[in-house]
Amino acid sequence: MILHYSPTVIHCNNVSSALPFPTSSHSSLSSSSSLSSSSSSFSVIPSPLPRQRLSSFHGSKDTYLKANTKTKLGLKVMCFQKEPLKVMISGPPASGKGTQCEMIVQKFGLVHISTGDLLRSEVSAGTEIGNRAKEYMNSGRLVPDEIVTAMVTERLSQNDAKEKGWLLDGYPRSLAQSQSLEKLKIRPDTYIVLDVPEEILIDRCVGRRLDPVTGKIYHITNFPPETEEIKARLVTRPDDTEEKVKSRLEIYKKNSEAILSTYLDILKKIDGNHQKEEIFKEINSLLSQVQKEKIATELGKVALQHESHAASSSQERWRGIPTRLNNIPHSREIREYFYDDVLQATQRAVNDGKTRLKVEINIPELNPEMDVYRIGTLMELVRILALSFADDGKRIKVCVQGSMGEGALAGMPLQLAGSRKILEFMDWGDYGVIGTFINIGSIGAKEVSEQDDMFILVAPQNAVGNCIIDDLRAMTDAAGSRPVILINPRLKDLPGSSGIMQTMGRDKRLEYAASFENCYFFRLLYYAGTQYPIMGALRMSYPYEYELFKRVDESPGKEKYVILSTFEGKPTGEEINDAFEGKPRNQVKKAAGIWGFLSGVF
Ligand code: AP5
Repeated sequence: MILHYSPTVIHCNNVSSALPFPTSSHSSLSSSSSLSSSSSSFSVIPSPLPRQRLSSFHGSKDTYLKANTKTKLGLKVMCFQKEPLKVMISGPPASGKGTQCEMIVQKFGLVHISTGDLLRSEVSAGTEIGNRAKEYMNSGRLVPDEIVTAMVTERLSQNDAKEKGWLLDGYPRSLAQSQSLEKLKIRPDTYIVLDVPEEILIDRCVGRRLDPVTGKIYHITNFPPETEEIKARLVTRPDDTEEKVKSRLEIYKKNSEAILSTYLDILKKIDGNHQKEEIFKEINSLLSQVQKEKIATELGKVALQHESHAASSSQERWRGIPTRLNNIPHSREIREYFYDDVLQATQRAVNDGKTRLKVEINIPELNPEMDVYRIGTLMELVRILALSFADDGKRIKVCVQGSMGEGALAGMPLQLAGSRKILEFMDWGDYGVIGTFINIGSIGAKEVSEQDDMFILVAPQNAVGNCIIDDLRAMTDAAGSRPVILINPRLKDLPGSSGIMQTMGRDKRLEYAASFENCYFFRLLYYAGTQYPIMGALRMSYPYEYELFKRVDESPGKEKYVILSTFEGKPTGEEINDAFEGKPRNQVKKAAGIWGFLSGVF
């Protein structure tokens, strides 16, 4: 299956079981659209993203999309943690809540939280809560709100309830209780009320028996126990006398209306005066439907985010590349466009087995020759690349060169000052990725360890009088066939204090520097000797051609980039000049004119 630029988005439920994503299984997954409770279900929605803009989301920390996004060969795989079902069941005493809960738990795997059961176990354990609750329960009155609410919220906060979903039985039973939940933003997906005529309820209560061993609910005539042995151990609840049932019923009637008003929008009344299997059939179909709607809503949210991301960052909107690149600081939208552009290109190159790569991106914030240079932007780019590869299960070493030279000449390039510290203090997420999948080091052979899968080198560069290339070469030799990615390297010779650097081994150094292949290139073009206005841009994103854009003013405050030409390899200043002047290719001319200066840059 060819995955390159497949306009498809695959959503997988329950991320932890889905990652890392086996590329070979994509085809088998992509066609299934499951809405079951299975943790391995996948669904597919068409992607509106144009070619080359299939982007990777790195949402904010609190969205479940955050670390769960993967991109393989241009195929966008979005994973989301499925929100489990949350159900409340209510009804008068003996309406059959407990009986239905047994069946719901069996089918949907929810965590059953019954306040009656919780209280009864406190009573039989003789706890302080139990002792306080006992007198209320035995007389058929409600136990004070603060006791029950604390018990319920504590139970709901446990991991099993969060992961599997919950089925709340017998709570809330008063307006105050429902309001406590609302305040905590605990809301069910559906609120089921079992409706049973009063005269039937009394008989059900009086005839109810419980198995203290299995917890199963029986009725002396409706559901008699299966064996004599079970029958012998059955117990009667102390509040199941006719008198107490009547009192419980009164309390229920008094409170139920008030609670209903909180859940009117999700209320589902079910006739509870049928065979228990029949009632369950109705509940089953309701919950299955709610579950489907929930998944559909979540998919919708993901798709919406996906579309809005696509819309906000698409080349369409910017007509090629982002505009307003002279506005400093760059907007987050612009930065994210470039981070994403670099990420896509680098991933494609690494996936194609390239091992010596470089990213060169010179937007104003990443151009150290400009006053507006921001080390934070460079670090953010590095973080996104490293996290994304780590997300693929790779171990990344992020390296910043240390101080070079000795004595009075010791120091490091200004562009990198403090960068190691910044990297160490950066927010790398809460997943313990630093020190495991991502390690920070410096440049040199001794930094290469066996477990490293790839290396990202932050702006390696020569300093006046000192050359980084020997350390770099030793490091790449040690890395062998593992990818080494240079981000904005500056490996041209700089003048040495005694002129040594320019002469000794220069050819070899340049040859080595040239052995790194561009997987991404972006440079703004200006008139010779100026940094304003922007005349155009040159962009290359592996494995595509170099694209030359011209910036055009549309109306005051509005601009666009139009593509002038494409080139298989990096164009020379002369070729760029020709394209701007509308000259045909390969026409013999002098390297002069407004773009002539660029030949030096390239
Ligand atoms: P709790 O245990 O919650 O009692 P309840 O709400 O009165 O409900 P029941 O357990 O009596 O009945 P059910 O609807 O579960 O019916 P079941 O399936 O067992 O609460 C007990 C006490 O704790 C309260 O009174 C209060 O003091 C305290 N408390 C609890 N929550 C509280 C809160 N939030 N705030 C304050 N205090 C709280 O079925 C009943 C019988 O009918 C069984 O014998 C069964 O076999 C039979 N049956 C079931 N379905 C059918 C059917 N379809 N056809 C025929 N028979 C059936």
